[in-house]
Amino acid sequence: QPLRVYDPGYMNTICCTSKISYIDGDKGILEYRGIPIEELAEKSTFVEVAYLLINGELPSKSQLQEWDEKLRKHTFIHTDASQMMKSFRYDAHPMGMLISTLAAISTFHPEVNPALAGEGVYKNQDIVNKQIYRILGSLPTIASNSFRNRIGREHNMPHENMSYVENFLYMLDKLNEKEYKPHPKITRALEVLFILHAEHELNCSTAFVRHLSSSGVDIYTAIAGAAGALYGPKHGGANEAVLRMLEEIGDLKNIPQFIKDVKDRKKLLMGFGHRVYKNYDPRAKIVKQIAYQVFEITGKEPLIEIAIELEKIALSDPYFIQRKLYPNVDFYSGVIYRALGFPTDMFPVLFTIPRVAGWLAHWKEYLNDKENNIVRPRQNYIGPEKRNYLPVEQRK
Ligand code: CMC
Repeated sequence: QPLRVYDPGYMNTICCTSKISYIDGDKGILEYRGIPIEELAEKSTFVEVAYLLINGELPSKSQLQEWDEKLRKHTFIHTDASQMMKSFRYDAHPMGMLISTLAAISTFHPEVNPALAGEGVYKNQDIVNKQIYRILGSLPTIASNSFRNRIGREHNMPHENMSYVENFLYMLDKLNEKEYKPHPKITRALEVLFILHAEHELNCSTAFVRHLSSSGVDIYTAIAGAAGALYGPKHGGANEAVLRMLEEIGDLKNIPQFIKDVKDRKKLLMGFGHRVYKNYDPRAKIVKQIAYQVFEITGKEPLIEIAIELEKIALSDPYFIQRKLYPNVDFYSGVIYRALGFPTDMFPVLFTIPRVAGWLAHWKEYLNDKENNIVRPRQNYIGPEKRNYLPVEQRK
């Protein structure tokens, strides 16, 4: 019998090797392909970072140009997919719409679905790259459609001459048709948030991409499944949960009671704690700075006061210190999204768009991994011992 270890939550299980991102949770370090997150946030663009994550190196000038063009060419989604999105209820959660649409788009590409086209279809690098362009390129469009549904407006078409992030903002608003251009500082702020959210090694959703891919399922279904994992309030839904928490607290004077409830284990301090970071999340530091840059344009979001006071109290309280609970990336991002005017239920969508770059990087790495066995953990059975079937008439 091979040695098997009981490891709920996979706290101690290493299930793959990877060259994509490096985290030192004790020191608060995050690197994408060896490059510190702080440098990328300062100097790079989301599109360039996506290239780096997926292809392993920063692109040359011509590679970047070609990559950018490919993504732009794939911003449109099939009109049937757009039509399908219009059939969601007016108050459907944007993440629900996004997840379902991604899964539905799987049915639009049977020629590259391993279930139909054969297991070897993803051995063709051109086919793999094409799916990457399609998914990454069309994601802002699907996301903006889900937002437009939510506010009861027509879907907007992508703008061919705008950057990735600019185009996303444009599709959300498109106030004065072609003349409308999102504010450059707002665009840059969202771009940095996209860079920070693009990848984070084997978090719950990324692990799920590998998990689903191991069954040989098509990449659209795998990405939809991963987005399902991201939707949860302990993962990508945390930014939404933080905002709801700040609203619930509502006033500085209610913070002590809230902290008491957390310590009495009645509540979680959302946006705090991390499976890997047992020190300040390096992304949270950058997000906090961005908040103030955004407020210069949008005006101060009042909930920031509650967030700062909460952080101050938590960081000096033995309960949180002993458990190494620090703000994570989601603690301040929600406040920024609110200042930018996003409805709270759009927050996890704003996390999903960039994280897809990380998922696709892991998918590509997984496809080239010789050890890519189907994921199949074992369990400790603790149910009843063998017994006989009892006909329904004899049951109590
Ligand atoms: N508020 C209060 N107590 C907490 C929190 C929190 N947010 N997080 C952990 N704890 C306590 C926990 O109760 C435990 O206490 P004890 O040892 O007395 O039982 C101790 O801290 C250790 O926590 P844990 O549950 O073993 O930590 P974990 O690594 O399993 O969980 C986590 C990590 C992120 C799920 C958890 O910290 C959490 O639920 N945080 C709130 C949700 C959140 O902000 N999630 C976003 C994570 S960052 C973005 C992402 O990756 O998606």
